[in-house]
Amino acid sequence: MTANPYLPFPCRLDGIEVENEERDIKTFKLAFLEAEHAKAFAYMPGQFAELSLPGFGEAPFGIASSPTEAGFVLFSVKRVGVFTSELHASECGRLVGVRGPLGKAFPWEAMQGKDLVVVGGGFAFTTLRSAIVYALDEKNRKDFGTITVIYGARTPGELLYRSDLDAWSARKDIELHVTVDRGDEAWKGHVGVVPKILEQTAPKADRAMAIVCGPPIMIKYTLPVIDKLGFSPKTTVLSLENRMKCGIGKCGRCNIGPRFVCVDGPVFTREELSALPQEY
Ligand SMILES: Cc1cc2nc3c(=O)[nH]c(=O)nc-3n(C[C@H](O)[C@H](O)[C@H](O)COP(=O)(O)OP(=O)(O)OC[C@H]3O[C@@H](n4cnc5c(N)ncnc54)[C@H](O)[C@@H]3O)c2cc1C
Ligand code: FES
Repeated sequence: MTANPYLPFPCRLDGIEVENEERDIKTFKLAFLEAEHAKAFAYMPGQFAELSLPGFGEAPFGIASSPTEAGFVLFSVKRVGVFTSELHASECGRLVGVRGPLGKAFPWEAMQGKDLVVVGGGFAFTTLRSAIVYALDEKNRKDFGTITVIYGARTPGELLYRSDLDAWSARKDIELHVTVDRGDEAWKGHVGVVPKILEQTAPKADRAMAIVCGPPIMIKYTLPVIDKLGFSPKTTVLSLENRMKCGIGKCGRCNIGPRFVCVDGPVFTREELSALPQEY
């Protein structure tokens, strides 16, 4: 973070990848202009940043890259409105402000030595990609037991990070289950919603922590399965996407009761969330 928390680091847009058939999700690769800024932007998977374009404002996005991927940061952005449309219309070379890293990361200390169960759906898979790349890195892999990933999209064309999915499915140290609601002729993987595949896969909960990120409907039907498998509120982690403005606990835009999602979250255990009003 800069000394002034409202000041972004200037970054150059160095790569743009269209992620899905609808062409409304792109991954943007950003490079810091100054080496000291890259150093100051020390993040862990689960955190987010505010991206800015002069004249088009600022918006929060989960960091999709892992700190083990040096030299750049990645953000996967769905085109929905003013800022995201302008970012989607951008070409390589454009300057983009990056303010952060913001918020709390996944609880890496508590996850150390545990099996990891990563459950994701839709375009909320961004920070989960960061977590998986981080945990699979050769320096970190020994810190975790088994790694099970259940990731779902509506159709094969809506799956993000196809090259990562291919690389992970070729590895023996991760159990990857990719599922779609509706397959096509070429699709050979699971067909069915994420909670159903999670139930079928039935990863052991006794020495595991689960990270669950996805659209509200997926979360709603996944949590009862998580309970049934034996995960507790302490060992289940969610990431929230409440509306935000400042990202640093000043404007009050994102609060749930007394807590600010931008500072106290966006990552919470279910135990932490159970103490808050149901405003998320
Ligand atoms: C912690 C956090 C992490 C996020 N990570 C990602 C990410 O990795 N990738 C990604 O694509 N998006 C992410 N979002 C959502 C993203 O911030 C919004 O899509 C973005 O602010 C929209 O800006 P806009 O100017 O294009 O849209 P606007 O012009 O402001 O709004 C266009 C439409 O989008 C809706 N909208 C605006 N903000 C949000 C929001 N926060 N949630 C849901 N709907 C919204 C508006 O109601 C409106 O219908 C994240 C949000 C948070 C809080
Ligand atoms: S976004 Fe301003 S307080 Fe959280």
